[in-house]
Amino acid sequence: MRGYSEDILSEVRAKSDIVEVISGYVALKQAGRTYKGLCPFHTEKTPSFVVSPEKQLFHCFGCGAGGDVFSFVMKVENVGFGEAVRILADRAGIAIEEGSQETREARERLRALYEANEAACEYFQRVLAESPEAQIARAYLKRRGLVDEIVGKFRLGYALPSWDALLKALTKNKVPKEVLLEAGLVIPGKDPGSCYDRFRARLMFPICDSSGRVIGFGGRVLDDSVPKYLNSPETALFKKGRNLYGLHLAKDAIRKESAAVIVEGYMDAIAAHQHGFGHVVASLGTALTEEQARTLRRYAPGVVIAYDADAAGATATVRGMEILAGVGLIVRVASLPEGEDPDATLRRGGAEAFARVLGDAKPLIDYKLHLAVSSCDGSTVEGRVNAAREAARVLATIESAVERSEYTRKVASELEIDPDALSKDVEALVHAGGARTGQSRPGGRGGRRPKAPARLGAPRAPGDRNAGSRHTKSEDDIGRSGEMMKVLEAEKILLRLMAESRKVQTIVLSEVGTDGFHDPRHREIARAVAAQTADTDMEGDEGPAAEPSKVIGALDDEETRRYAAGIFLGQAGEGQGDPAKMAHDCLGVLREHSLRDRIREIERELASLGNAGEMERSRDLLAELWSLRARLSREFQPFSGTG
Ligand code: CTP
Ligand code: MN
Repeated sequence: MRGYSEDILSEVRAKSDIVEVISGYVALKQAGRTYKGLCPFHTEKTPSFVVSPEKQLFHCFGCGAGGDVFSFVMKVENVGFGEAVRILADRAGIAIEEGSQETREARERLRALYEANEAACEYFQRVLAESPEAQIARAYLKRRGLVDEIVGKFRLGYALPSWDALLKALTKNKVPKEVLLEAGLVIPGKDPGSCYDRFRARLMFPICDSSGRVIGFGGRVLDDSVPKYLNSPETALFKKGRNLYGLHLAKDAIRKESAAVIVEGYMDAIAAHQHGFGHVVASLGTALTEEQARTLRRYAPGVVIAYDADAAGATATVRGMEILAGVGLIVRVASLPEGEDPDATLRRGGAEAFARVLGDAKPLIDYKLHLAVSSCDGSTVEGRVNAAREAARVLATIESAVERSEYTRKVASELEIDPDALSKDVEALVHAGGARTGQSRPGGRGGRRPKAPARLGAPRAPGDRNAGSRHTKSEDDIGRSGEMMKVLEAEKILLRLMAESRKVQTIVLSEVGTDGFHDPRHREIARAVAAQTADTDMEGDEGPAAEPSKVIGALDDEETRRYAAGIFLGQAGEGQGDPAKMAHDCLGVLREHSLRDRIREIERELASLGNAGEMERSRDLLAELWSLRARLSREFQPFSGTG
């Protein structure tokens, strides 16, 4: 049947559990007797794709796709039945020699193409490393600041300024001319049967699929001639809009960071990796496609776009974000300094500068508002009216009414226009419907730029293979114990102030409560202070609240009494002026700590989730994480050591 014997087919089927196979493509989550996930065959934000391990079938209630494990592979890999069987057999380690003439030939052809690309890649690498004629390319790379290690990792090479150097070298190594033609490595010449090298005098960037097999090349001139880049033509292996440059090197880091960063150029991606940003991929110069977006979604719930800061970059960015958001990714947009691409930022300011750019990345909605507002001339009434109209259109796409009004107020104040008037325009658009396209999910309420680089953009030492650990444990612990000392100190001051001032006590009790203190003794003392105050029954909230001695008398054990006396009589925060102001600062310390605590908790959970079956959960966590980090850097000075 269809080129394979029934025996082979049933063996392949038996060894290809549908849940395992599909998990390689889709993040699945167990839901009772079945597994659920986001359908890889259409764009959706809530999972309607169901896989049954009992029945060994899948079905999408959204788009109707469905079938067995073979149908899934055929559809997802876009191959015929024979090829799907081969893929699954390979995966299961089953040797299949059978197959129709056609299947065998197609398989053979693909294999030959992979081999030709691999051979060419090795050849270009060797030339770059060894040929005297490649000195110019080596010098070029040096000038651009790329170190040998990264050149090797990305397998950069050099095509000699020759019409047939590759042709000769590869045919000598028994790669047939027809295969080189089909791989786009050589081009047919005028004379029948003749051909010549496509890539000449170019720095060669091999383009790989997600498992690292070379499928094509980009070749860059070493001077200002045009075209700057020449790429492989579309072949059976190389399809535009399918792949992301550097993904095979970036995928683990993307999983660990729970986000990818997309840049435009090969050079940008390479420079980023060299500076420790292992989660960066390049979009290969074409507009982002939905397929690329879905590919990314297989690895992480978040993505940051870091395109060049020019006008073309801005347009590409808006289009790109819509596509990425469309497949359910949480999108942030990084604004590079005027006239810079990521490579330039890294060369100018190093990892730190790029980390800052990534940390400052704005939610989609902020970026769109920024574009709308900045495209108009704010110095004239007409310009501001136009800006307001553009902004209203963007504002009307925000789903949450609270968020909408927050953003509306912010825009109005930026444009110095009447917030109520703008709000009316926005709400009119909302009620007219229609404006609900390009839905975005801003990470938090405020769109203000975080002051400190967020962890997402934190650099790692170049060549650090252990991409997961950003700093060592001990640094972490030291930072945290310093933080805890600050917290405990703040609590002591608060306890003293609570006894001294009714006003402070009211504030603390309503914000922290007696149970919000971190030290159990502090909780006991806080309860005693509150009880004492209730007993004394004074009017108003000025003046002292509780008598320390009575508070202490109400405490149970001697050790706590001694400790409390130290607090009430102690010097903690003594002489620092206005109690209300001091209490406010101490409450800030507690708030910051609880934010950081929650962030650490989320980070731990994200790290433990990994890739398997938890896409939705990690998306929610990431959204919360981003909004907490934004709040943290908005409201608090960076805390030394952590974050
Ligand atoms: N590109 C292309 N063909 C061109 C120009 C650009 O395919 N003629 C693609 C390449 O993938 C390139 C990306 O678009 O990497 C971005 O272009 P550009 O910013 O010009 O290139 P960089 O990689 O940044 O190169 P460099 O920094 O060396 O100028
Ligand atoms: Mn560049």
